[in-house]
Amino acid sequence: MVDYRKGKPAEIKPEKKETVIDISKLHPNDVAVLKSLSNKEENLKDLANKLKLSYDAAMRSAFTLKEMKLADTKESKKETPTLTLEGKRFLKERFPEQRIVERGEQKIEKLNEEEKKVGVPWAIKNKWIKIKVGRITVEKTPEIYDLYEGLKAINEGKQVDKKIIDILKERGSVEIKQEKTFFVSATDEGLKTGKEAEARKGELNEFTPEMIVSGKWKEAKFRKYNVEAPVEKPLHGSAHPLQVYIEKIKRIFLNMGFEEMEGPEIESSFWNFDALFQPQDHPARELADTFYLSKPGYMYYPKEVAEKVREAHEKGWKYSWNPGVAEQPVLRTHTTCVSARTLAEIGESKKKPGKYFSIGRVYRNEATDYKHLAEFTQVEGIVVWENANFVNLQGCLKEFYNQLGFKKIKFVPHYFPYTEPSMEIHVYDEQRKEWIELGGSGIFRPEVSIPLWGKYPVLAWGLSVERLPLLKYSLKDIRTFYQNDLNWLRELKTE
Ligand code: PHE
Repeated sequence: MVDYRKGKPAEIKPEKKETVIDISKLHPNDVAVLKSLSNKEENLKDLANKLKLSYDAAMRSAFTLKEMKLADTKESKKETPTLTLEGKRFLKERFPEQRIVERGEQKIEKLNEEEKKVGVPWAIKNKWIKIKVGRITVEKTPEIYDLYEGLKAINEGKQVDKKIIDILKERGSVEIKQEKTFFVSATDEGLKTGKEAEARKGELNEFTPEMIVSGKWKEAKFRKYNVEAPVEKPLHGSAHPLQVYIEKIKRIFLNMGFEEMEGPEIESSFWNFDALFQPQDHPARELADTFYLSKPGYMYYPKEVAEKVREAHEKGWKYSWNPGVAEQPVLRTHTTCVSARTLAEIGESKKKPGKYFSIGRVYRNEATDYKHLAEFTQVEGIVVWENANFVNLQGCLKEFYNQLGFKKIKFVPHYFPYTEPSMEIHVYDEQRKEWIELGGSGIFRPEVSIPLWGKYPVLAWGLSVERLPLLKYSLKDIRTFYQNDLNWLRELKTE
């Protein structure tokens, strides 16, 4: 037996490193690209043309070769000003300020909207015209107009002064297109490998039935597969991030033992407002906030329930309730009308008292901005249970938001015509470092729950859906969900 403790330890030799890449693993395109490369940089587009490859295929090969240190790539960005649609129109029709002075127009009312809004200020700025008591006096008609000359030059691909480009850009007549050009060259290693590849022509890519029949496969040399070669990302259909979120919310409520309830988006004022004890002269019912529909001319609502609602209104608000007003169709302004319908069904024993939720589109006549949409989604819920209390309400909402991953939430006292007490739910946005309002809730007033259900209390809430994924995906603008930006949709990782 050899005693290994004696004598010198065996010398550990470094493993011999392969210097030449195993080109049999390369795709034929990669080999073709490699063979045609030199140590001079070559435009990838030209190279693709020369090799009759698609630009994408050439790009893929270039990057595979780069990863193997056989090639270098370089990228240069070029900014080219191009005319926007409006720019193209101005090129044809001339700028509105040009049209004004060229026509020698004297009366403002003869100008079209664009000439009034855009042309006049520019013409005044250029000191071409003066305006006195509604009349235009042309002071100067320019022989050439630098902005228009700029537009023409850009259209012809000529060099244009940066100042002019900036003004045209600002006006929206020109936009800057970024063009990327790729260059590839071979590294020293690449040149060597390329030569070797030349020598290994004749390797086969495919194993065919004919080869088996003829027995040719025995002599044939095959290219090895490179299972790690980068490939194009496959495009596939997927659910919209908002839909993914809606499904998630549904799952949470279903797991909490809620049943789903549904209602129409075109709703009678009765269910949207009256049943919720909102007086008929309440400001939220005004045109400024609510979309009324002219068709259908009126909407049905159950007269027995309405009798009880009328009583509550007349007693509580002290006015004469008008059944005609309740017939007016609206685009529902909240999903709370679905809760009102469900509550009435429970009152008629068509449904059982219990926990219900609903998710759906609501509409408000509102200016849109990064936080607001005129059309958005709400998640509504009610707990119809005689022993329910305010703490249960907070518990439900807390549990819901926790399950969605929002841990820091607070309740803020608020007012709604149909609940008492009422509160808003705010969640802390760690990124923006601010509290964001997510929705309202409360216990339906007896004036709501007694006419509909006959009992009290009912816990209720209505929450914004869009704001949640807005926070989750750290978006700046709520409109992102509705812009159908395919790149964004493809890149976004939803779970
Ligand atoms: N309907 C209210 C809203 O749209 C939310 C709400 C629902 C408040 C139910 C209290 C009870 O803001």
